[in-house]
Amino acid sequence: MAEFLSGMKRTVRCGEVSTAFVGQEVTVMGWTNRRRDLGALIFVQIRDVSGIVQAVIDSTKVSKELFAKAETIKLEYVIAVKGKVVRRTAPNINPNMKTGEIEIEVSELRILSEAEVTPFNVGDSNAGEALRLKYRYLDLRREDLQHNLIVRSQIAQSARRYLSENGFLEIETPFLGKSTPEGARDYLVPSRVHQGKFYALPQSPQIYKQLLMVAGLDRYFQIAKCFRDEDLRANRQPEFTQIDIEMSFVDKEEDVFEIIEGLIAGIFKDVLNMDLKRPFNTMPYADAMAYYGSDKPDLRFDMKIKDLTDTVKGCGFGVFESAAEKGSVRCIVLKNHESDLSRKEMDKLGELVKTYRAKGLAYLGKTADGQVGRCSFGKFVSPEFLNKLFEVCEMENNDTAFIVADSNDEITCVSLGALRCHLAEKFDLIDKDKFEILWIKDFPLFEYSEEENRYVAKHHPFTSPKNEDVEFMLTDPARVRAKAYDLVINGEEAGGGSLRIYNRDIQKLMFEALGFTDEDIAKKFGFFVNAFNYGTPPHGGLAFGLDRLTMLLTHTSSIKDVIAFPKMQNACDLMTEAPNVVDDKQLRELGLEVPKKQND
Ligand code: AMO
Ligand code: AMP
Repeated sequence: MAEFLSGMKRTVRCGEVSTAFVGQEVTVMGWTNRRRDLGALIFVQIRDVSGIVQAVIDSTKVSKELFAKAETIKLEYVIAVKGKVVRRTAPNINPNMKTGEIEIEVSELRILSEAEVTPFNVGDSNAGEALRLKYRYLDLRREDLQHNLIVRSQIAQSARRYLSENGFLEIETPFLGKSTPEGARDYLVPSRVHQGKFYALPQSPQIYKQLLMVAGLDRYFQIAKCFRDEDLRANRQPEFTQIDIEMSFVDKEEDVFEIIEGLIAGIFKDVLNMDLKRPFNTMPYADAMAYYGSDKPDLRFDMKIKDLTDTVKGCGFGVFESAAEKGSVRCIVLKNHESDLSRKEMDKLGELVKTYRAKGLAYLGKTADGQVGRCSFGKFVSPEFLNKLFEVCEMENNDTAFIVADSNDEITCVSLGALRCHLAEKFDLIDKDKFEILWIKDFPLFEYSEEENRYVAKHHPFTSPKNEDVEFMLTDPARVRAKAYDLVINGEEAGGGSLRIYNRDIQKLMFEALGFTDEDIAKKFGFFVNAFNYGTPPHGGLAFGLDRLTMLLTHTSSIKDVIAFPKMQNACDLMTEAPNVVDDKQLRELGLEVPKKQND
């Protein structure tokens, strides 16, 4: 029978009981983590969010009733114990446990709540994922998941403190609003009062935060929920959280970088006690693509992409020569693993680059004694050319050069960039304790959408072009760079933002370049564009993914492990079984009808 606390009060949390408490009486409360029954002695591990402590119930020191009660304790029962903290005898000291030098000699015990046998062992991260998500509240009893949520809370607190101290106001913006232009699909909410009309849940508070700048609030932040109905990947969820920031009277990227670097440095200091070197490095987008084949390069390892386009001219190998004419030939060099790569492995690497649209992967190895080793194109070229490649690629013994040639330079770079990351994982070249942080800037303003057959905004349509590129907005959109930036940490996009257009003429040019008619503009963003007619400060900002930051700071590979109640890959919540059917009455009130077969 479960009991009441009846006046018992917790004096300390389980993980906080230390040798400093020896001789004192304490009261702890928590879940039964483990139980060992030695006949006359019962050991119970009690767990709460701070950790675990061992309690011992000694039949020679407690009443018969108390001992009998202790015998009924099972795993996950919630109990409270009062007792004296004592040192464990030498053989019983557990160096792997924070509280392993002490235990509590129980003098009072209450069973506060009994527990049925759990569907999987609490703490077992190998139990099936579906089962763990269904019983998320049990999985969340796991120490590492609790740690992730603690770090997440620390990041949020650190951000709040820093931003508040720097004049940013925390302001909430609506969930029920109008579709925003972030480019993913919206989640829609039907209106009961205005049947046939829908609210859109915000993909980000972008429009509202800019309007707050127009309103003169000067500096804004929000820890904001965002909703995007997009295909989920390991680092994406349909609802996620941004640390969303906007500031007025800035018009250089560096103005934003300075304040944001303070925020990130503060978070690393508060959470990891780590001092970051500032200012952070910056890299133009074009360099990131050319040297790392990615707009979010992982700089924890080297293996930069080298350009061979000039070197291969006249080499005799048609594939290289023709690519060099229209596109590019580039390579990466894997150091000191030539002898570890089997033929089969080489074929697999070839398949990998093909998934990034490369047509093939050529390779050249240097043997352990400095000779020309394996070469996939050796029969087409002279030995002198191979030696020239050794030199240009700065190859040492046992190195391998991987070469991609393509008439489209982006394909060359991106496929080598993917290969670079693959090889680094495979040969364990990444120092996982390191944090490599950099800004990527000078993004293109537009990107061409094959699907829509037109240019679309790479970031969003309110991002400012570089002043010197404005003149090309209509004539040569591809060359226009934006005042947009991402903060990249260890090859992940932790955050991104831009300086915004605050000049009406440029905003008009932007819409024109995107092919919006005046009617489109009025319908989609009329209220927004209008607001800019009444005095707009230069402004800009960015948003961090709080989930992604937490993943980085906890070295977690799945975004689900940093969110209390995440969704599955198919956007379902297995615990609440959302999404789900609703009553006919609710549908009627909303003026909606669901075709019968979908509702079954
Ligand atoms: P953006 O779309 O780049 O910019 O988003 C900013 C950051 O949010 C995180 N993020 C996500 N995290 C988890 N799951 C997702 N589905 C997801 N999508 C994005 C990323 C990303 O860097 N309004 C602009 C910001 C601005 O211009 O100020 C915006 O939303 O970490
Ligand atoms: P082949 O003449 O098809 O046997 O090609 C010789 C080598 O060149 C093979 O290793 C191919 O994988 C490689 N190769 C073919 N096309 C490309 C390309 N576009 N870029 C790099 N290597 C290529």
